[in-house]
Amino acid sequence: MRSIHIDLGKDSYDIHIEKGLLNQSGQYVRQLTEAERLAVITDDAVDALYGNQLQAALEQSGYEVHRIVFKAGEGSKNMTVLADLYQGLADAGITRSDAIITFGGGVPGDLGGLAAATYLRGIPFIQIPTTIIAQVDSSVGGKVAVDLPSGKNQAGAFYQPKGVLIDPELLTTLPLRFIHDGLGEVIKYGCIRDNHLFELLETLQDDTLSAHWEEIIECCCTIKARIVEHDVLDMGERMLLNFGHTIGHAIERCYGYGYYTHGEGVAAGMAMLTAVTEQKGLTAAGTTQRLDAVLQRYGLPVTVNAAMPQLLPYIAHDKKKRGNRLTLVIIPAIGTSELLSIEGDAIPDYIRKVDAQ
Ligand code: GLY
Repeated sequence: MRSIHIDLGKDSYDIHIEKGLLNQSGQYVRQLTEAERLAVITDDAVDALYGNQLQAALEQSGYEVHRIVFKAGEGSKNMTVLADLYQGLADAGITRSDAIITFGGGVPGDLGGLAAATYLRGIPFIQIPTTIIAQVDSSVGGKVAVDLPSGKNQAGAFYQPKGVLIDPELLTTLPLRFIHDGLGEVIKYGCIRDNHLFELLETLQDDTLSAHWEEIIECCCTIKARIVEHDVLDMGERMLLNFGHTIGHAIERCYGYGYYTHGEGVAAGMAMLTAVTEQKGLTAAGTTQRLDAVLQRYGLPVTVNAAMPQLLPYIAHDKKKRGNRLTLVIIPAIGTSELLSIEGDAIPDYIRKVDAQ
């Protein structure tokens, strides 16, 4: 068992990582809550694969379990489905002395977490993430949200879980494209904080990854925990986690969500920015070559066909923009990162040029 403590005062919690942990989840949940009833919030894809297994594990520890299931996909991360979840919680008789388990990828985590933050003015919740991207990023740090028609994650809260239980065994049913999607974020952690992790990824390949999941997830969650401890409300250091995201979010929106996965957008965003910061002397020579190679090793894009004029309107909407200035995350070398504040109008100078097709 690998465990990481995240020290946030009264909101502190532990992240536990172990293959097979799902079957022991009842015992761990017992240590985290006095609840008698648990509401498991999940999507229909995860429920079909693992819903019965989780319910059995929780019932073994004496819980009354209610599964509240919504349709899988980012399209469900909205106010309508949130209202359905509130109704489901009320119908199940969930009270403030009960708890929610969010079970799945980023959507169940974000949506179920926001339900937990707001139902009855807040009830405890525990994250059991089932995708790489959720295990290394979205389940840790307490960002919970729904999307609005005007953009992603625009209504939400910072609301920390009581604990995070990560079972890498669950990744065996994740399609390869979504393993790669998560690796976009994993590579990001290597870039911003951990040269050793980056070097490990340079040596592994699709069929050797699974033996290293626990180590990889522990590295990423430790980096995120230390950053969030310093800046839980995302006012400074936490922005380093957004390396590749300004351009990445623009790519996701420009092509329509779902064409590029989040991790693919971030991959192209990191590569397109770093090519330019290296040319400008802000990044060590040779970094782009290594970054492009490791991204391509896992089938991730290092550029996209959209030309600058197509991407620009979406960058202008990036919520990291303050006034006419934009904060970019750059890497002086693999394993180090810093914030760079630029004039909003200067952004085209920071994206590797591509021709429209
Ligand atoms: N996913 C970035 C953050 O949690 O701040």
